[in-house]
Amino acid sequence: MMISTRLTLGLALALAACKATPPSRFERAVAAQVKRHVTVGGKSDRNPFPATEQNVSRGRKAFSAYCMACHGLDGQNTGVPFAEAMSPPVPRLTAPEVQLYTDGQLHWIIENGLFPSGMPAARGILDDEQMWRIVLFIRHLPPAGSLGEQATRGAR
Ligand code: HEC
Repeated sequence: MMISTRLTLGLALALAACKATPPSRFERAVAAQVKRHVTVGGKSDRNPFPATEQNVSRGRKAFSAYCMACHGLDGQNTGVPFAEAMSPPVPRLTAPEVQLYTDGQLHWIIENGLFPSGMPAARGILDDEQMWRIVLFIRHLPPAGSLGEQATRGAR
């Protein structure tokens, strides 16, 4: 009993110590690879919508209704004060590590979210067509800041 209590305490302390250290570059790189190759599905799913101006613009509208709170209207965190503070931080969707995903993987991320990060699942909130059009918008993001800032507080 004594021993196991001490062991548990020791483990708890060791875990606490672990938590206090930010993940190393290596750990983060491994996590990113696992995410890219294992967690995120849909790799070979094709976008049924061509990148016409109308489809991209519809994607932008859906994005500015559901995603802008965390990603900004431009997908580059413009006007999102907490983006850097989230763990992991909200990435700019123009970043190479995001653009390297296939269309199908981006669609999968939107539909399922990324557990346990702050990226929520849109399944049941957005329909499939909206999700595919949002993928088109992610491929055609405007220059950072060009869409202005969203009104996060709303009109009262
Ligand atoms: C509540 C805040 C929030 C909302 C709303 C949100 N996201 Fe995210 N998003 C995040 C966070 C936090 C991350 C970083 C997650 C990670 O790297 O694990 C993220 C990451 C992403 C990524 C990159 C994933 C990666 O592996 O690098 C994409 C693409 C994305 N979001 C698209 C969207 C789209 C499209 C919408 C709207 C349908 C949306 N997000 C709505 C918070 C949000």
